[in-house]
Amino acid sequence: MDSILVRGNGPVTGDIEIAGAKNACLTLMPATLLSEEPLTLTNAPRLSDIKTMTALLTSLGVEISGLQEGKVLTMSSHATPNPVADYEIVRKMRASNLVLGPLLARLGHAIVSLPGGCAIGARPMDLHTTALEALGAEIELKDGYLHAKTRGGLKGAVHKMRFPSVGATENFVMAATLAKGTSVLENAAREPEIVDLVACLKKMGAQIEGEGTDRIEIQGVDRLHGATHPVVTDRIELGTFMLAPAICGGEVTCLGGKLSLVESFVTKLNEAGIEVTETPRGLTVKRTGDRVKAVNVTTEPFPGFPTDLQAQMMALLCTATGTSVLEETIFENRFMHAPELIRMGAQIEVHGGHATVHGVERLKGAQVMATDLRASVSLILAGLAAEGETVVSRVYHLDRGYEFVEKKLSGIGAHIERIKA
Ligand code: UD1
Repeated sequence: MDSILVRGNGPVTGDIEIAGAKNACLTLMPATLLSEEPLTLTNAPRLSDIKTMTALLTSLGVEISGLQEGKVLTMSSHATPNPVADYEIVRKMRASNLVLGPLLARLGHAIVSLPGGCAIGARPMDLHTTALEALGAEIELKDGYLHAKTRGGLKGAVHKMRFPSVGATENFVMAATLAKGTSVLENAAREPEIVDLVACLKKMGAQIEGEGTDRIEIQGVDRLHGATHPVVTDRIELGTFMLAPAICGGEVTCLGGKLSLVESFVTKLNEAGIEVTETPRGLTVKRTGDRVKAVNVTTEPFPGFPTDLQAQMMALLCTATGTSVLEETIFENRFMHAPELIRMGAQIEVHGGHATVHGVERLKGAQVMATDLRASVSLILAGLAAEGETVVSRVYHLDRGYEFVEKKLSGIGAHIERIKA
């Protein structure tokens, strides 16, 4: 297994290109199942999670081309899809559950493996199944698979979710595009990736209003057609790379970055003493003082502070002046990076959903282990702020969500290299 070697760094400077959003692409790809005509995605990120979704869709009968070195992915689901999403693929990536809504809408039935747990929490599927049941699906769990069927197709309905789940919102919206009549989702998630999915579905002929608010209304149509759609900028990759100059000092422009994607994150960076400026090229980030100031952070559904930037923010706060408290409200077990940061000299106490970080002057390089995708990149950021060398192992987590991370970070002057196993 590859690892990443990072040497403690001075200031970083230059431009860094931000890719299309992994989480948007992972919901845009299954949308191809809704139509017999081709769907082309441009600005697709080159990541192992996208390869996993490609394998899943291929197993369902979708023909896919592109995305070797380019960023264009063309998918065609012209033949009747196979309704079974196999455990061997689904277990690798939870977002595989996003084929459930589209398969049900297109075929009236689907058999999708439950994904199982993951490092950051139990991650049940009840919000997905109750949302689809509201549209008339009958869903039963047998042998680890969700067996879903409809009697005469999905029917529009009003449904209120108990929590604004991103994936359940996406499954509901995709399913409702082909349901009979009007569907309304209340307490819907508002993430930019959902707004991007809806923009694509509208190009395919869907009738949807209210995306980006907590009430989405969908008027079912008989069929959807082909479309070409650029994947929205990855706000999590954006936030991650914005932290490089925040941690090392210097000035970096994240090309394609927009404030509207990361507003609550930028509020916290500003509180910590980091300057962020929006220009037509992207977001420019500059650390003015020597050390950042401590800030308190609570993760929340969008537009709140994203859970997917909590680990990286913790890496920054490890060297802040003062004490920061980070509260994780989305996933019950998302402080796995804390013990690794402690190995690097950080002073962190974790109590349930809270982590208290007492800032130290400097971290020290160490051998550390990535436990999930965002944890792994937080250790790389910490390594950039540390004295000496840090080796981050198990970087297959990293490759799920960051394309060419060594190339991108060395482009702004970071000392980072991949050690091939
Ligand atoms: C998506 C993102 C992930 C991000 C998360 C929260 C993708 C591919 N992944 O994941 O990177 O961290 O949003 O912003 O877009 N829950 C239930 N029952 C359900 C579904 C979820 O209780 O049926 C709970 C989860 O356990 C979790 C919370 O709801 O505690 C949020 O999950 P959800 O918004 O569904 O996240 P995902 O869509 O899985």
